[in-house]
Amino acid sequence: MSIRRVSILGATGSVGAAAAILVANAPERFEAVAIAGGRDAEALAKTAKLVNAKFVAIADTKQYAPLRHLLADTDAEVAAGDDAVVEAAKRPADVIVSAIVGAAGLAPTLAACDQGTVVALANKESLVCAGEVALARARTAGATLMPVDSEHSAIFQCFEVDRAHAVERITLTASGGPFRTLTLAEMAHVHLEDALKHPNWDMGAKITIDSATMMNKGLELIEAARLFPVPEDQIDVLVHPQSIIHSMVSYRDGSVLAQLGAPDMQTPIAVALAWPDRMETPTDRLDLAALGQLTFEAPDPIRFPALRLAREALRAGGDRPAVLNAANEVAVAAFLARRIGYLDIAGVVEDTLNILATAPADTLDRVQAADSAARTAATAAIERLEAA
Ligand SMILES: NC(=O)c1ccc[n+]([C@@H]2O[C@H](COP(=O)([O-])OP(=O)(O)OC[C@H]3O[C@@H](n4cnc5c(N)ncnc54)[C@H](OP(=O)(O)O)[C@@H]3O)[C@@H](O)[C@H]2O)c1
Repeated sequence: MSIRRVSILGATGSVGAAAAILVANAPERFEAVAIAGGRDAEALAKTAKLVNAKFVAIADTKQYAPLRHLLADTDAEVAAGDDAVVEAAKRPADVIVSAIVGAAGLAPTLAACDQGTVVALANKESLVCAGEVALARARTAGATLMPVDSEHSAIFQCFEVDRAHAVERITLTASGGPFRTLTLAEMAHVHLEDALKHPNWDMGAKITIDSATMMNKGLELIEAARLFPVPEDQIDVLVHPQSIIHSMVSYRDGSVLAQLGAPDMQTPIAVALAWPDRMETPTDRLDLAALGQLTFEAPDPIRFPALRLAREALRAGGDRPAVLNAANEVAVAAFLARRIGYLDIAGVVEDTLNILATAPADTLDRVQAADSAARTAATAAIERLEAA
């Protein structure tokens, strides 16, 4: 087995840190090339030492000196700024884990695609906002996009690519988040702390809020439509509160293939790192007898309008997914800063989609224009809410 060179973008985050531990624990399989983070110099330095990274990039230039100081006793090359993060993505590697949160991950993900190797993609936002551009860049360079999202990893594992014509539907499962059983009236009064308590998964703040609104499932719906050759109307969402079945593929002969596992990101990350091989992980093993039952329910588009908005954006195409994604990022940041309420998040996204006219998103410039117009419109919508 030859050693795989791995880079991790977003190495201090929930996904990035889990990837770093898997890499560090399997020196017979992996060696680290580059790692990148946003602004947490201490956590980045710790991860750099854990994996023995050769190149360490931090986006926040103010953190350059502290990071250099923390890594003074290593041979690591240290750099700062957005360009340095892109440089981390360009360092030759066999697998690049793309785990920066939000549209900030777009430029590094595109640079990773240009290498033509494997991009282990957790940063779904880049595929949502710039799907056409990212897929074209990956195709041109010959890169393989390996999904890290547990749902897409499940579909990847169940989808017989040689028999795509025989696939009838794909079904993304959703936990339903912490507010699954609340009424709309009750949702109007939920607190940030409640939204940050996911029942099954331990994740970064932004995706945890996206799970509470079900925008995460909406983004995943768009991601699935980009990654797999299945039309939008053949992609379903099914609420499955236990998060044991991670997704399913239904075939024309009535067979349904599902991938199951404990709700632990180590498994889908390991699938992406080791593919087509399989590697050991210390994750909890499933005990179905102890679990007793798995339950399912249809998602409620009235209480979870974000899911409806995402499906409409996918159907409309063009820049709608980019606008949806950027408005959501701004709204989630405002909710995390306690500037708006939980129900306002989807309201801000809907207002932004209504205010801005649809445009194409077939070039990076157009995607960036849509992203920045949506951020401006969403910020104005939040200011209106605050003034009311
Ligand atoms: N967490 C999960 O279980 C999970 C599951 C499926 C998919 N995902 C997806 O994976 C991505 C990461 O999620 P997460 O939960 O791991 O997020 P997270 O814990 O918030 O971590 C985000 C990472 O991005 C870095 N970052 C932020 N802004 C950056 C910038 N401008 N340049 C470089 N790095 C930057 C952060 O660095 P600092 O810490 O220094 O700020 C951190 O390393 C998201 O797209 C999410 O949707 C996550």
